[in-house]
Amino acid sequence: TTVDLDDDDYQLGNYSNFMHKEIWEQPESVRRTLLGRLDERFGTARLGGINLDPRALRAIRRVKFLGCGSAYYAGQIGANLVEEWARLPADAEPASELRYRNPVVEEDTLYVAVSQSGETADTLAAVQELRRKGGQVIGVVNTVGSAIARECGSGVFLHAGPEVSVASTKAYTNMAVCFAMLALSLGRVRDLSVSDGSRIVAALDALPARITEVFAAEDEISAVAKEHSGAERMFFIGRVRGWPVAREGAQKLKEISYVHAEAYQAGELKHGPLALIDPGMPSVVVVPDDELLVKNIGTIEQIKARGGPVIAVTNASLPSGLADSVIQVPRSEPELDPILFTIPLQVFAYHLAHHLGRDIDKPRNLAKSVTVE
Ligand code: G6P
Repeated sequence: TTVDLDDDDYQLGNYSNFMHKEIWEQPESVRRTLLGRLDERFGTARLGGINLDPRALRAIRRVKFLGCGSAYYAGQIGANLVEEWARLPADAEPASELRYRNPVVEEDTLYVAVSQSGETADTLAAVQELRRKGGQVIGVVNTVGSAIARECGSGVFLHAGPEVSVASTKAYTNMAVCFAMLALSLGRVRDLSVSDGSRIVAALDALPARITEVFAAEDEISAVAKEHSGAERMFFIGRVRGWPVAREGAQKLKEISYVHAEAYQAGELKHGPLALIDPGMPSVVVVPDDELLVKNIGTIEQIKARGGPVIAVTNASLPSGLADSVIQVPRSEPELDPILFTIPLQVFAYHLAHHLGRDIDKPRNLAKSVTVE
């Protein structure tokens, strides 16, 4: 399926900047990336562009995602899903690290190069190095005809449409959605059951509607952002599914607001970072209603006990008074929480930067696409 998007038609309309527009476009852009790729009958996904038949898919023994910035964080969501659904070892690594560390390239590893622009120098160089050593690389790219898309030869297009804001939003979300489809197809040629596959297909299909529900809470999220806009530093805390969410949430905040935001794994807090907690250091804690709920409530209590303000981002009903502020997220299937939970954090960062009067689309020192080292 191809989608025609004429760049010249891409204008601000009623939005005051592109980031806000692109956040709001996500139900539509997710719909575009899913279009024609979900297979309800067999509870799987079809990514025609990767050119791998079921035998070739079954021969893959490991998956490695590589990218820079938000593309790298999205890759971490992908790696978690591949491990969970396909039971294959998977991880994500910044392309800038991989290209310089003389990686062991294995024949039965699928390398997934991830890039919105398709022009990021580090990602392109990593792809070239992997291919030179005989590695099997596919691209997950937004821009058709870009250098990385051409270098990979096969892959998946994101169909997010043009993304103008330096801080990535809709392309990031579409990356994660494409990885969910990749993980699903890898899982369904292995031991993921048709009923689990169908449950996931239905949840992906419903994702655009869930994202629209997030936007219904925009005023409340903006109020929480305003309340905390005086903070000079913030923690973003998550574990397992919540960890890539925390990383991307911190990334969005630092990029556009210039507030120092650090992401930390919840279990690692006690090994150092707790020393930083005080009333001037709010923590955004990612709390999905899953098997780790009790652990995450414990994390909030640890932070509160040390005088740290807590903003909980959750789809659970937390005990009242536990967190200082709550950002409520709609329910989906637990595996898709990392995708859905990131959206309110985009909205949070956007409004916090807006309250601070930042140049949201063009933050200082950053470029949309880094084509030099
Ligand atoms: C730049 C942008 C980031 C982006 C990264 C990777 O640093 O500011 O928003 O995530 O590049 O870009 P890519 O086009 O490869 O996804």
